Amino acid sequence: MSCNKLKMICFSPTRTTRRILDAIAEGFGVEDPEVVDVTREDKVPETCECSDNELVIIGAPVYGGRIPLTAVERFKALKSSGVPVVSVVVYGNRAYEDALIELVDLAGEAGFKPVAGAAFIGEHSFSTEKTPVAVSRPDEDDLSKAREFGKSLAAKLKEGALAGTEVEFPGNRPYKDRSPKASASPVSNDDCQLCGACERVCPTAAISVGAMVETDPDKCIFCCACVKVCDFDARKLEVPKLLEVSKWLADNFSSRREPEVFI
Ligand SMILES: Cc1cc2nc3c(=O)[nH]c(=O)nc-3n(C[C@H](O)[C@H](O)[C@H](O)COP(=O)(O)O)c2cc1C
Repeated sequence: MSCNKLKMICFSPTRTTRRILDAIAEGFGVEDPEVVDVTREDKVPETCECSDNELVIIGAPVYGGRIPLTAVERFKALKSSGVPVVSVVVYGNRAYEDALIELVDLAGEAGFKPVAGAAFIGEHSFSTEKTPVAVSRPDEDDLSKAREFGKSLAAKLKEGALAGTEVEFPGNRPYKDRSPKASASPVSNDDCQLCGACERVCPTAAISVGAMVETDPDKCIFCCACVKVCDFDARKLEVPKLLEVSKWLADNFSSRREPEVFI
């Protein structure tokens, strides 16, 4: 297997997955990897063919122990015949359950050859000052582990050992059920300056900013990119059920989990 190019494909509303993938690429030693970032609806290519001399790294966050449906839909553009793929999930310090194996399977169904995988930790999308979960992760320690992972991918590739053995990935088939999606969304308060930052980062084009901020609750996937990007602290996730979840997460999942790699 000879790969002299690296392609990163990712969905990452609050950028923790993207930061992990960037660090893996840095460790791999490629200065300028091709990036296909499908986070924004208007950036999804119609098809994304991958060629023989590439190693592909595909990354997505974990939502409810699964890959977010929006990411699954967007990754459908991917096609390959036997290109090696590294699947990476990033989760908010609770659990990744069936997400990694789902991403591995999804890549396999698109024609890739799964050769390695990893689960890293990112600040939980629902984390707030009152209910902190995995705040500021990935931190320097996580990023250094991601660079190390990239380095070992490059070394294994060089010695021809990357696809030598079948890698076992944790997770169950059939995957756990997805939770039904509530029709709700974060809201903007009086501190909103109508700057439009929330509209620009929304991965599902659920927000439109004019004389006021309007959000389509059916399109919102609760990724909280709009909450995290707001410089005026004017956007809040005040959905009662999700506030309960945030408290449950902060109460029960504050002890630090560490990245796992499968190679
Ligand atoms: C709707 C939703 C569901 C989530 N479910 C989980 C989960 O099951 N386990 C977990 O540990 N983190 C979960 N998270 C947290 C994200 O996986 C985590 O914050 C991740 O770093 C976000 O990635 P991104 O920055 O690339 O968007 C969830 C987040 C959202 C928005």
